[in-house]
Amino acid sequence: FHQLSRWLVSDGAACEEVGYGGPRLAWLHVVCDSKDGNKSFYTVQEEKIEQAERSVLISCPAKTNEKKFLSYLSRHGDINKCFFYESYGTYAVVEFSNKESLTSLHEGTAIPSINHEATVPFKSRLLSLRNAGPVDMSNGQSAPPCQPQTTIHINELIQRLSKEASIDQQISSLTETYQLTEENVCLRFLVCSLLKDIAAAYFPECTIRPFGSSVNGFGKLGCDLDMFLDLDGISGRNLKRPKAGLSLEYQTKRSASERAGTQSILSVIGECVDQFGPGCVGVQKILQARCPLVRFAHQPSGFQCDLTANNRVAMKSSELLYLYGGLDRRVRCLVFSVRCWARAHSITSSIPGAWISNFSLTVMVLFFLQRRTIPILPTLDHLKELAGPLDKSVIEGNDCTFVSDFTKIRLQDNTETLEQLLQEFFEFYGTFAFNRMSINIRKGREQNKPEMSPLHIQNPFEPALNVSKNVNGTQLERFVALCRESAWMLQQREFNVPHSGSATGNNAPWGLAALLMPSVSQVAGVKGRKKRKREPASERIKGLLESLKNSEVKS
Ligand code: GTP
Ligand code: MG
Repeated sequence: FHQLSRWLVSDGAACEEVGYGGPRLAWLHVVCDSKDGNKSFYTVQEEKIEQAERSVLISCPAKTNEKKFLSYLSRHGDINKCFFYESYGTYAVVEFSNKESLTSLHEGTAIPSINHEATVPFKSRLLSLRNAGPVDMSNGQSAPPCQPQTTIHINELIQRLSKEASIDQQISSLTETYQLTEENVCLRFLVCSLLKDIAAAYFPECTIRPFGSSVNGFGKLGCDLDMFLDLDGISGRNLKRPKAGLSLEYQTKRSASERAGTQSILSVIGECVDQFGPGCVGVQKILQARCPLVRFAHQPSGFQCDLTANNRVAMKSSELLYLYGGLDRRVRCLVFSVRCWARAHSITSSIPGAWISNFSLTVMVLFFLQRRTIPILPTLDHLKELAGPLDKSVIEGNDCTFVSDFTKIRLQDNTETLEQLLQEFFEFYGTFAFNRMSINIRKGREQNKPEMSPLHIQNPFEPALNVSKNVNGTQLERFVALCRESAWMLQQREFNVPHSGSATGNNAPWGLAALLMPSVSQVAGVKGRKKRKREPASERIKGLLESLKNSEVKS
């Protein structure tokens, strides 16, 4: 316990012993540290939204001289941060220290005139750097250093993981490789801010907030950008009318229902994005969906965007996942590994269908961590008990209250390793009574299924709904079979220790890397991985064993 306290302190968190009753009963009180991980969800949101409002996105020539570029822009004011990245060309994100710099920048920026074409004179914060000469902007032969905005191919990941020394390190390495970078998160907030400028034509006081994996701590580089048009902050919305005397109110258009109102707002904003939004292409209005949305690609950032409105419950889900992910580093590591494993075996897909979604899978990991003998995560009901008055939240009649302050949460002293947890995750769901039981993170216990969907995961904030209603029996069976196969593989010594070839650079997949391997035929040569039919588990395992033996012989 004392060692763990020291580790927490050295990791930047202050730690306080609140009770100690033998090795299994130690309780820790982790006191807030200064990192984003322990700031409340809304504090992080507000900070990043404000930074994004002071930022611009500039398309630059490929070999832009960074120094000259910065010196040119700094005539408008001090620059806090700047980074370059590649996406159909080179782009720079520039964050000024003060918002006033943007006024100065806009004053000196021209609207292009293009022969035989007309332009919409919309002054956005997406700009292009032009050099009419004779300024030498070349950077010798080299381009400015670019921050990666996408992750590596799974084959490269498998090779990278195979070089690690333990399964714990493999899991950590996968998380570090896949997680969003600070720059990528800034870019996501900037894209929301650029869209807000469009929506602000109708609703000057609106906010567009990212939600889902862009902000819940479980986002992988390259994941979509889910956005929420927030009209709640418009002043006067919650203003109480005086009981006596004169007062004014706005005349407004009425719509038949809240859903109809959301649909017409999204329809109009979607039209503006399509007609006037620089860089926004392939706009589709999907207004009849359960949650109406506008989908488009934002080319300069490379993000696939989904814009929704009036989607406060999803925002709360994102906050809850952020909180759970920030409580213990093993949570995010396990979620990243399970999500990657599921994607590698087509358990999840980028196309909507009868498969398990990333969101459902994440809730399944959280539930598993609540079900440990010494729980790693508290139940949602417990988080509700810890809530303060400001945390109170009721959305459409559903109580979505839970604590936002990390410092109020006491964690139990579970010291299981990532390797143990991964192994036990597969065993847990390989033998779970899916036919009878529902997964419920509010109670932290399985409950009798209220209806007969193959997979039942209670929606944490809308208890009458099943998050995984779309999943059919075949997809669930595939998931269970794969869990069993993976649990079995992790029990075999051949798979769970680095084999002797590793040291000589002959890295046959082992441990987590072996679990990500798609099929026998590709084990020998990781390159050339193709879509394939799944082979029977025994064949897959036989092939993996042979490949390990071969690589040991060669080394
Ligand atoms: P990615 O696959 O990385 O995009 O993960 P994601 O968490 O962003 O999932 P997705 O883009 O599908 O959905 C965005 C957010 O909407 C999720 O994080 C949830 O908050 C919410 N959400 C998605 N699917 C469901 C669902 O079936 N039920 C409920 N209640 N919320 C959902
Ligand atoms: Mg998403």
